[in-house]
Amino acid sequence: MAQVSPAVRLPKSMDAAWFRNARTKLLAWYSENARQLPWRGTKDPYAIWISEIMLQQTQVVTVIPYYARFLNRFPTVAELASAEESEVFRFWEGLGYYRRARQMHAASKEIMSRFNGLFPTDFESIIGLPGIGRYTAGAILSFAFDQPFPIVEANTQRLSARLCLIEDDLASKTSQAILWRFAEEMVKQSDHSGGLNQSLMELGATICKPKEPSCDRCVLKDQCLAFRKCRQNKIPKAKLPKQYELRQEIVPLLADSKGRWLLRRCAEGERWAGLWDFPRFDVTGIEDPLALEQSVRQQCTAIFGRPCSVGPLLQIIKHGVTRYRITLACHRAEWVKGGRFKSTQETAWLTTKELGSVPLSSTGRLISNLVASIR
Ligand code: ADE
Repeated sequence: MAQVSPAVRLPKSMDAAWFRNARTKLLAWYSENARQLPWRGTKDPYAIWISEIMLQQTQVVTVIPYYARFLNRFPTVAELASAEESEVFRFWEGLGYYRRARQMHAASKEIMSRFNGLFPTDFESIIGLPGIGRYTAGAILSFAFDQPFPIVEANTQRLSARLCLIEDDLASKTSQAILWRFAEEMVKQSDHSGGLNQSLMELGATICKPKEPSCDRCVLKDQCLAFRKCRQNKIPKAKLPKQYELRQEIVPLLADSKGRWLLRRCAEGERWAGLWDFPRFDVTGIEDPLALEQSVRQQCTAIFGRPCSVGPLLQIIKHGVTRYRITLACHRAEWVKGGRFKSTQETAWLTTKELGSVPLSSTGRLISNLVASIR
């Protein structure tokens, strides 16, 4: 059984006739105006699942080439399940949020073992797979099979909040309950839930945009409570600005006598788990150059058994990860006397060519390009 939202009331004007009217207008608008996106041409639940996981936290234009490459290499659940995790990561590299790829890979193995390699077609089985929540399960079932499951995601949420005139924070329990209730009502007893869900998403993405929605071109404007009250620019309520933490990190670029670079594999539970990375050390707040050198020396010895000295600065990379804003200083570095190389982590010495075939974080890839350019 699908999840049913708690009993909340939709605005009075949203009766059965309101929804009939909206469905007709949405489907007609969508058939004329939908963007042609690669995942829209398929009814294969596996392909739809891949697209939906990629589209979480990532923009459509970014996903398009990844989706094509990924499906070309892993065209079926079986092919994904039998691949090495590092290869899956290589095809995901640059999309970020690698947990998605890891969970997808785990889910593909479960589909092989529990469902005989056939993508499940019922809500409970799909939502029980790693990395699949209510939205993704609803998207797969409605897009692939037109099963009447609702979806709520960023674009439909903004559109529905305006249609329903939700002035509260959309993350609140009550707002979420109204949004899911609205989405359920929209697809209830419909044979076109896939088209309806897609049309809501498309109208949200292309017309009911976050800033300055194009209400004059919206097919639902006459039914929109926010438009009627001129509140479309005030809904959704603005979120509090994110608080960022500043961090300084150093990458000491260390090579062996054959010119191969030292890399480590990010461990379970760490940022970028499963990917390879150049060693990097946190030196936040250390201003004094001598103290900085000493900190890197200590951190290097603690992990690799040998100290290193920090040489010339080659590049500064600024990037963000979750709530951190990181300034990463990449330095040439040399081993110095003392200790013996004995790593506490999984390490590899890689030539610049070999760096091309291991999965790296985005900044790891930038550093790999940097080392390729200096040798
Ligand atoms: N964002 C999330 N899922 C999407 C889809 N199927 N099409 C376009 N944008 C999306």
